[in-house]
Amino acid sequence: MTVREAIAVRRSIRKFTDQPVSEEQVAVLLEAARSAPSSTNCQPWRFKVVTAREDIQWLSGAPTKGQRWIAGAGAVLVCCADVQRFIEDSATNVRFLRDSGMLPPEMLEGLNEYLSRTENAQPEVLRWAAAANCAIALTQVMLQAVELGLGTCWIGMFDEAAVKERFQIPEAMPVVALLAVGHPAENPEQRPRKDVEDILL
Ligand SMILES: Cc1cc2nc3c(=O)[nH]c(=O)nc-3n(C[C@H](O)[C@H](O)[C@H](O)COP(=O)(O)O)c2cc1C
Repeated sequence: MTVREAIAVRRSIRKFTDQPVSEEQVAVLLEAARSAPSSTNCQPWRFKVVTAREDIQWLSGAPTKGQRWIAGAGAVLVCCADVQRFIEDSATNVRFLRDSGMLPPEMLEGLNEYLSRTENAQPEVLRWAAAANCAIALTQVMLQAVELGLGTCWIGMFDEAAVKERFQIPEAMPVVALLAVGHPAENPEQRPRKDVEDILL
């Protein structure tokens, strides 16, 4: 399967068979996340892999505002952003890039500015910056899942405080998204998309 094919056939899947998602499949999905690009290579994504039936059942209730379909998923990836390490690793990596001579000199000024902006940024700004990196990792996971014959659905509607408490996620790590994963029991048509003319400025 080519990347283009994976992109073309991917759908949000909300009906799953009872077949479990294997540990090997989860490992391949995590590898796809691990390989994702990130700003200054800071890799702020952290995952809690939820496979226990009672946890998935719990997620399908009030914590996701009653999204019952989640109960059928074989696994749910809870994707968090390590904001503290985002700052620290960005600083380390920028210094490495700066000092190693690996980058063209004209980039140095911009990188120094980036570093100073990151170190002085408000928590909300950092949260969104880290979340943008996590979204790239999750996109790679969704496409890798297609190749494995798995279906996924991004869950953005959830009670962050409840999810953090249930899975003991550290206070300083915002939960960016949940990703339901399972063996598809539906094959939906492509959902409507804007025309290219509508997304060109
Ligand atoms: C940021 C984000 C949040 C989303 N939140 C939810 C959600 O809470 N529940 C849900 O069923 N689908 C959710 N979706 C899936 C979208 O509804 C879906 O991607 C969109 O309708 C296009 O359909 P497709 O993924 O099949 O192409 C979310 C998708 C994204 C990217």
